[in-house]
Amino acid sequence: MQLQDENEIAGTPVPPEERAIVLVGLMGAGKSTVGRRLANALHLQFHDADHEIETAAGCSITDFFEKYGEPAFREGERRVIARLLDGPRHVLATGGGAFMDPTTREIIKRKGISVWLRADLDLLMARVAKRQTRPLLKTADPRATMQKLMDERYPVYAGANITVDSNGGPHEAIVQQIVHQLASAMEKMTS
Ligand code: S3P
Repeated sequence: MQLQDENEIAGTPVPPEERAIVLVGLMGAGKSTVGRRLANALHLQFHDADHEIETAAGCSITDFFEKYGEPAFREGERRVIARLLDGPRHVLATGGGAFMDPTTREIIKRKGISVWLRADLDLLMARVAKRQTRPLLKTADPRATMQKLMDERYPVYAGANITVDSNGGPHEAIVQQIVHQLASAMEKMTS
């Protein structure tokens, strides 16, 4: 995609106090669970980008990948996230690949406060093993696939405004850490 198009889709930057809080990180990091609790703590609405894509498409993410493929999914994801971030301030859980898409990342940078939920391989694998809903992990060796995704994605996730370790402890503690770091992240955006 050309830079001009990216700018067009990403739109103008939003003041920090109006920005959505956008959770990024790998599958199994706890973005939806932590996001819901964070939204409660901040008295904001919660949205889940994957869920919104499923509603818009009228099928599951797995079926979407099978029918239309990953590039079409990323396109839908980009549009859904752009639409949500144009709405009222909220907490948004994104799918693990969203922040890897240059246009989606630009939209989040202009309109959101990004929070990376960082987790180690064992924790991610223990969490994703509970549900078979991740098309990218339908491989001969899901653990090796997850490791590869960590290698590719962690350097990019590291560009988020806030990083918090999702270490298997109580979700409430993670929420408190995010709340604690929000003010200084917002200050940095204005300076
Ligand atoms: C993906 C993560 C999934 C979902 C899709 C692709 C990814 O979301 O968007 O299966 O590329 O990492 P979760 O991170 O919520 O599992």
